[in-house]
Amino acid sequence: MALNRSLRNDDRHYGLIAVAIHWLMALAIIGMYPLGLYIDSLTYYDPEYRTVPHWHKSIGMLILALLLVRLVWRALNPSPAAPAGHGAWLRLATKVGHAALYLLMLVALVSGYMISTADGAPIDVFNWFSVPALPALVENQEDVAGDIHYWTTTALIVMAGLHALAALKHHYLDRDETLTRIFAIKQETL
Ligand code: HEM
Ligand code: HEM
Repeated sequence: MALNRSLRNDDRHYGLIAVAIHWLMALAIIGMYPLGLYIDSLTYYDPEYRTVPHWHKSIGMLILALLLVRLVWRALNPSPAAPAGHGAWLRLATKVGHAALYLLMLVALVSGYMISTADGAPIDVFNWFSVPALPALVENQEDVAGDIHYWTTTALIVMAGLHALAALKHHYLDRDETLTRIFAIKQETL
């Protein structure tokens, strides 16, 4: 076992950039879910009403930027091929599962942006820079985007849970390199 030191993926291993982005986004998204539910429980008079939604929106816009970087990086630097022991059905299921995770991330993040900008106000990211609002696309945009946001973020967390279980199954039951390679560890023996 050795650390894969290259920044780019190769045909059998994820490189350090894909690994860093995967884990940074996974942690941020998992943390954002309870933060969002907490926002729902706040009233106008809670002191957190002025801070927590600001953090949720600011972190969310940084995650959206990272998703765009990730998609560009992935287009320039294809993911490694499936481990040798994975059959045709499993390869297809993996492709569909990963595509669903990307789509859910995108819709969850864009719907969050659409709730926040429905009234035409820009999003102020940690008092650092602001992201302008686009003209509203649908009537009642705040409510429509709010429903979409709730369901897509919930589906994203459920999918990510299944995805993590699948990774653990490969590691502990099938004993293949699926999980180690998303930690940039090379298993030369496999
Ligand atoms: C919100 C949480 C997560 C999201 C959104 C997510 C998303 C993704 C996506 C989109 C890929 C495909 C990467 C590519 O383009 O090739 C991927 C790969 C992977 N993820 Fe996650 N992930 C999350 C959490 C986790 C967790 C908790 C684990 C393990 C316990 C995990 C294990 C893996 C593994 C092993 C791969 C590589 C799969 C392969 O080689 O085919 N992920 N993840
Ligand atoms: C993947 C990242 C995100 C996750 C997991 C997430 C999760 C959640 C959850 C679970 C809720 C509570 C349910 C709801 O009321 O809809 C929520 C609320 C909210 N989120 Fe997010 N969110 C994310 C990204 C964003 C982004 C990027 C923005 C805006 C820039 C945003 C803005 C909001 C707002 C304004 C609310 C309150 C909505 C309301 O009270 O109706 N979220 N979020």
